[in-house]
This record gives sequence, structure tokens and C-alpha cells, in this order.
Amino acid sequence: MSELSGRVAIVTGGASGIGAASAKLLQDAGAAVIVADVLEAREGAGRFVRHDVASEGSWKALLADVMDREGRLDILVNNAGISGGMGNVETTTVEEWQRVQAVNSEGVFLGCRHAVEGMRKTGPDKPGTGGSIVNISSVAGLVSGAGSLAYTASKGAVRLLTKSVALHCAEKRYGIRCNSVHPGGVDTAIFDPLWQAVGREQGKAFLGTRHPIGRIAEPPELGQVVLWLASDRSSFVTGAEIVADGGLTCGLTRRTPLGPS
Ligand SMILES: NC(=O)c1ccc[n+]([C@@H]2O[C@H](COP(=O)([O-])OP(=O)(O)OC[C@H]3O[C@@H](n4cnc5c(N)ncnc54)[C@H](O)[C@@H]3O)[C@@H](O)[C@H]2O)c1
Repeated sequence: MSELSGRVAIVTGGASGIGAASAKLLQDAGAAVIVADVLEAREGAGRFVRHDVASEGSWKALLADVMDREGRLDILVNNAGISGGMGNVETTTVEEWQRVQAVNSEGVFLGCRHAVEGMRKTGPDKPGTGGSIVNISSVAGLVSGAGSLAYTASKGAVRLLTKSVALHCAEKRYGIRCNSVHPGGVDTAIFDPLWQAVGREQGKAFLGTRHPIGRIAEPPELGQVVLWLASDRSSFVTGAEIVADGGLTCGLTRRTPLGPS
């Protein structure tokens, strides 16, 4: 029997990138996976449901559909996200701010809210396995940047709302865990505008120099973190922020974009 046999997982934004890699790994581990995205799956595994994370009505419809078809919910990966503009505090419009918060921050809140309700309905099949929520934040939820105001604010919100959900579920003894993941650069469609501007290989090489490990990640490297958090192997981990950033937020490095010192 596979590790996640009998478990049901929703992956938002599972049509592409980190979500698609996570969906495949969860499915390979035995879970029934629902890919919930505004886009048809380009690369992912699982059953596709069209879903807008920014709409509460869409969440209600998704949970009703999953309860009807799969009969339970054990894992939610709140992965859907948009990069937002490059605006700073002087150039970001209210519309841009609201568009980014609606998907990246409010979408995660709505996901947690409806997942806790769904997970509580089906309950744990053994103590401690009441459910796992994995929220994809970013290194931008740990450190900021002048020119990514809306994005960094949205990802910072995910970091602390995750801890609030984790504490609530722990205090209520629901057995539901909630953790955030903070990736550094990952080679996904989120970088398409950069690849178009400077070329894919040059863009990847440039971003790689910003990471002490010397490269950006491939999506399955983040999928493995998601899989671990979704599984019972992380049964004592809740409210944690798991950083997978090739050392980006560690501190000073002796290597610089200009070469080793
Ligand atoms: N790629 C990186 O370097 C990186 C770094 C840190 C954090 N992240 C985060 O990882 C997550 C996944 O991004 P990715 O890099 O795989 O990008 P991606 O563009 O490949 O995938 C994002 C997916 O989210 C979906 N999506 C967007 N808005 C949606 C909505 N309203 N409802 C449902 N689905 C929606 C898109 O259709 C797409 O399939 C995002 O939250 C992103 O902020 C990415």
C-alpha cells in the first residue's frame, strides 16, 4: 500500500509549475488528486476542476464537488499564485494591490477556511492524521523588496495566517496541521516574462547567481517538500515555515554575482 493511499488531495494552481509537480508526486504516493486551476492542466496529474481561488463561491462549489465525488478531504495545497507587478509604494495602484492580495492572500485564507470545514467533516482515519494544509508562500514572505510591494505583502500574509490556522486547529485538537513553504527561484511559467525579455538560459543563469547554491530549483524539488508536509512523516510539524531557497535568505555569502571572492 502506498504512503497516501485512501487520501484525497486538492492542489490549487496544479496545472503548472510547483503545483503540477506536487500533484504528480502526491498521486504517485497514492493520493487521489484534484487539480483546481483557472487554466486547464498543461502538465499535471489528477482530476481537473476549474476553480478560481479568489472566489468564495468557487471554493464552496469545489468542496461540494470533492465531497460528492471523492467523499473526503485530507490534503490541501494552497499553491495558486500570481507574480503581480513590479510596483513600489509610490507606483502600485489600488487595483494592482487588490488583484494580487485577492489571489495570493485571500485565496489562501478561503482555502484554509473551506478545507478545515471539509477535513473536519471526514475526520481522521487514525489519530494525528486529521489533515494537512500546505500553503505556498515565498522567500518574499520572509524578506522584502522595494519593487514587489503587493507580492511581498501577500506572501508575508500567508506566512502568519498559516501560523494562526495551525494554532487554531491544534487548540481545537482537530489533528489538522498547517505549514508554509518558502521557495527561492523555481523554473516555472511565473518567470515567462523574464525569459521572454532576456532569454531562458541567460535568465536562469542570472537568477542562479543570486542563490548561494548556484542555480534555481526545478519544480519537483519543491514538490518533494510539499509531499513531506502532506504525509504523516511530518506529523509533529505544524505552524512551521519550511524554507527551500538554495540558501538565498541565509545571510551573507562569499560568492557574488561577479564570481567567487
Ligand atoms: N517560481 C518561483 O520562483 C516561485 C518562488 C516563490 C514562490 N512561488 C509561488 O509558488 C506558487 C506556484 O507558482 P509557480 O512558480 O508554479 O507558477 P506557475 O505560473 O507555473 O503556476 C501558478 C498556477 O496558479 C494558477 N492560478 C493563478 N491564479 C489562479 C486563481 N485565481 N485560481 C486558481 N489558479 C490560479 C495558474 O493558472 C498556474 O497554473 C505561487 O504561489 C508562487 O507565488 C514561486
